[in-house]
Amino acid sequence: MKSQFRLDIENGLKNSPKTLPSKYFYDAIGDALFVKIMHLPEYYLTRAEFEIFNTKSKNIISKLEINKDQPFDLIELGAGDGKKTKAFLKVLLDEDYNFKYLPIDISQNALDDLEQSIHKEFLKLNIETIQGNYFGVLNDIKTNTTPKVIMFLGSNLGNLQDHEAQDFLIKLSNALQVGDKVIMGLDTIKPKDVVLPAYNDSQGVTKAFNLNLLNRINNELEADFEIENFDHSPEYNEETGIAKSYLVSKEDQEVTFNGDNIIFKFQKGEKILTEISRKYNDEILNSFLNNTKLKQISKISDSKNYFNSYILERV
Ligand SMILES: C[S@@+](CC[C@H](N)C(=O)[O-])C[C@H]1O[C@@H](n2cnc3c(N)ncnc32)[C@H](O)[C@@H]1O
Repeated sequence: MKSQFRLDIENGLKNSPKTLPSKYFYDAIGDALFVKIMHLPEYYLTRAEFEIFNTKSKNIISKLEINKDQPFDLIELGAGDGKKTKAFLKVLLDEDYNFKYLPIDISQNALDDLEQSIHKEFLKLNIETIQGNYFGVLNDIKTNTTPKVIMFLGSNLGNLQDHEAQDFLIKLSNALQVGDKVIMGLDTIKPKDVVLPAYNDSQGVTKAFNLNLLNRINNELEADFEIENFDHSPEYNEETGIAKSYLVSKEDQEVTFNGDNIIFKFQKGEKILTEISRKYNDEILNSFLNNTKLKQISKISDSKNYFNSYILERV
């Protein structure tokens, strides 16, 4: 039977125009490259969101209205290296909140690193990692009635197409009980000269991150992509607030998936969409929340208004 990875990749390459799902960026090399991206001077997203958690965690906590006597679950979707979350965890622990931290990630490697570093930095913290796709995990948390705070940081919602984001928010809303909260980190719509370099840095790390997807496909699906025959090409539309990353075929070429003898043809200049990064404002977010039982109760921004931490409540 074909693995989900193989099915998703082959289906994406059968699409017209061709696509590859961004969730597959994160093998061990992809995880390490993403950590590098987060430290790049051009990648303002992490710095802006980190500033919010580093300077305004107390403010966020007050908006969550958590009862200190009642244990709660802090569930993080797509936790990655948890750098920003750790600033938040520190304040929660310092203030003696009673909670369990449950980071969920598709990458077992990212979870192993995170768990190790949490054990070192926060001896007292009760942590349970969950490997999986957060769409699936939302179903599992439905039956758990412990009060919950969900963290969905890094503008990860922006990696979903608009219809997928709306569907995701409905699923999230349905998985929560009345009073549960969500901390949703979203990048704001801003000029091209700020946004585009974040996806096209001068050191070529984002390029390597995008091209690594082809390496991963070669290694895990016995394909024969010639990596140097593809280029990295990001775009950003200020009107819609949507950034897109593409891989572009530099020449007419064929790629064979030797595992099952499928051949894909690429024309010179043909683009494969690998990632979308939608930016949000209040209007877009609230229109997406319209079909859910999630309501925005607060918004906390960094000093440049580059990034927002929205606090949502399940009503
Ligand atoms: C862009 S990184 C952001 C990490 C972290 N939230 C942050 O803000 O720094 C995305 C993370 O989500 C994980 N991820 C992506 N798609 C996922 C999915 N569908 N289910 C679970 N985890 C996913 C990746 O493995 C990666 O660690």
